[in-house]
Amino acid sequence: MNVLVISGSIRENASTLKVARHLTATLSSNEAIQAELIDLTVYEYPIWKEVFHLDENPPEECRILHDKLFACDAMIFITPEYNGSYSLALKNMIDYYGLKVFEKKAIGISAVSVGALGGIRAALQLQQLVLAIYASPVPQMLLIPQVQTRFAEAGELLDASFANNIDRFLQDFIWYAEALFGKRKSEQSASSIKLN
Ligand SMILES: Cc1cc2nc3c(=O)[nH]c(=O)nc-3n(C[C@H](O)[C@H](O)[C@H](O)COP(=O)(O)O)c2cc1C
Repeated sequence: MNVLVISGSIRENASTLKVARHLTATLSSNEAIQAELIDLTVYEYPIWKEVFHLDENPPEECRILHDKLFACDAMIFITPEYNGSYSLALKNMIDYYGLKVFEKKAIGISAVSVGALGGIRAALQLQQLVLAIYASPVPQMLLIPQVQTRFAEAGELLDASFANNIDRFLQDFIWYAEALFGKRKSEQSASSIKLN
């Protein structure tokens, strides 16, 4: 199963990116999962005016990200909380690529903040956004308060007491991701149940 871990902050030295490194490495230790980190600073997608269309000759780097999103089986969105909501860079990317690359996939939600509430407002709003793109938000979210104390630059976990939270989130994420992945696979090989 191919999983993208999307770091939704485009700030220099983003805490979100450290979390993304950690989750990508942890998922990669499962041999059934190919996890790839998507750092949104790397992809020069535009401030969107029109939705991406493959047949309109988009810039190469925009096409590369499109193809990765389209091909993956599940994703994790990690957002910083900015002014009580999720990051504009993440929303821009989602609006630009449109729902075809997201629909019917499991999406895990994580939010980070330096305060005590772990980005709960951003995370809850992101759940709504995930539903709007016809994807399935994994019920168990990963909220990370005082993020600056918990992860080192390369993504190592500094706070061992937080390991259980990460484990619970990833176990749930894998459960839902595999369920939807299996369903899509079975639809490709056999006719599914029809109403009427
Ligand atoms: C413009 C801005 C708004 C912020 N708003 C909030 C907020 O509403 N709630 C919160 O807990 N932290 C808030 N913070 C703190 C961020 O959550 C914190 O800086 C976090 O590390 C950002 O992640 P990043 O380093 O990956 O960008 C804000 C930070 C910035 C720069």
